Amino acid sequence: MAKPEPADPEWLARGAAHVWLPYAQMKHALAPLPVVRTRGSRIHLADGRELVDGIASWWTACHGYNHPHIADAVRAQLEKMPHVMFGGLAHEPAYRLAARLAALLPGDLERVFFTESGSVAVEVAIKMAMQYWMNRGVAGRRKLLTFRGAYHGDTFATMAACDPDEGMHALFKGALAEHVIADLPRDAAGEAALRATLTIHAHELAAVIVEPLVQGAGGMLFHDAEVLRRLRALADEFGLLLIFDEIFTGFGRAGTMFACEAAGVVPDIVTLSKALTGGTLPLAATVARKKVFDAFWSDDPAHALMHGPTYMGNALACAAANASLDLFEREPRLEQAARISAMLAAGLEPCRRAPGVADVRVMGAIGVVEFGKEPDRAALQRRLIERGVWARPFGKIVYLTPALTIAESDLKILTGAICGALAREAVAPKV
Ligand SMILES: Cc1ncc(COP(=O)(O)O)c(C=O)c1O
Repeated sequence: MAKPEPADPEWLARGAAHVWLPYAQMKHALAPLPVVRTRGSRIHLADGRELVDGIASWWTACHGYNHPHIADAVRAQLEKMPHVMFGGLAHEPAYRLAARLAALLPGDLERVFFTESGSVAVEVAIKMAMQYWMNRGVAGRRKLLTFRGAYHGDTFATMAACDPDEGMHALFKGALAEHVIADLPRDAAGEAALRATLTIHAHELAAVIVEPLVQGAGGMLFHDAEVLRRLRALADEFGLLLIFDEIFTGFGRAGTMFACEAAGVVPDIVTLSKALTGGTLPLAATVARKKVFDAFWSDDPAHALMHGPTYMGNALACAAANASLDLFEREPRLEQAARISAMLAAGLEPCRRAPGVADVRVMGAIGVVEFGKEPDRAALQRRLIERGVWARPFGKIVYLTPALTIAESDLKILTGAICGALAREAVAPKV
């Protein structure tokens, strides 16, 4: 890994020999930038530079950093009670949050199971779906139908539900569950192909799992709401549960509060995380419809959902999530997402003419520039940082998912930096 600079803080040099970074070949990874403060859409570095944050810390900080309403709520909760175990004890922040999420989600999505990360929320959804069948006395339904381009997390059960190439299926072959992988039914032919797959496999399937509207970590691949309506219809036709993983799309990112609303579809299980606490504390939720919960409601102890993370329903995180929901109620986040959408579309438009660019697309507060082939990501990231912008190109894309509260001037800096970094003179080799 690149050595810290002499001007870097002492803690960075001392800790660098001990920290294992995410998604990084440690031998060659760029040294991470030392951050000392955040505020709004800005990241303050140890050397005094300020970066405009283009990705809101992996899509979490939807209200910008350090929102005072969330900070006050967490501080007040910390004084009262940071955490108590959820097994046998109850507290107001979690019970209030569960009721609020159930009220916000459509239909009878009304039973909330709390965890602490997106991957674990998906694990719980998978466990719920499989046990739903077992509790009803139906054997053999232990597989999922999942889609090419999907990403549902990094734990073993979720890796198995990811795109087979991106999800490291080959690397961990034998250690991962083998699911049925299909293409999203984007049109009538796709629907017919999926029906044919389901005809063969439905008897062994517990559920269909999909990231609604946007396959995020798989490359910010968009599909329209009609795909989700097809999935609901096919799941009903074959008697399968339908899981929407809204960990990325939830809380306004794709333009509506939840992507399922855009399609007018009620899935059987929904997973939420990321922006749930406004980017402050780890929390996730798996929300089930009544019929799913009813399959666990029994005199038989073996029908219980046997899951219970130690930090489940953490009171600080639930207080943060309640405060975040207050902000969605009080402030015009969805209008802000619509404004960002229009500005991203206009601001990224010039990138279409940049060398190597294959596509520019926008949905909600998500703007994507896709290249024909993988760019030199490290060089691109360096050029963005030189322009005062934090973004994290991956695969063939560079994307923007800023805080929904970002100022127009900062959004212009983001789109301008991407266009500038891709312009012919910026990417031309130095002679
Ligand atoms: C759709 C989706 N599901 C699950 C996850 C996993 O969440 P976490 O990183 O909190 O485990 C992610 C993370 O990017 C995601 O985008």
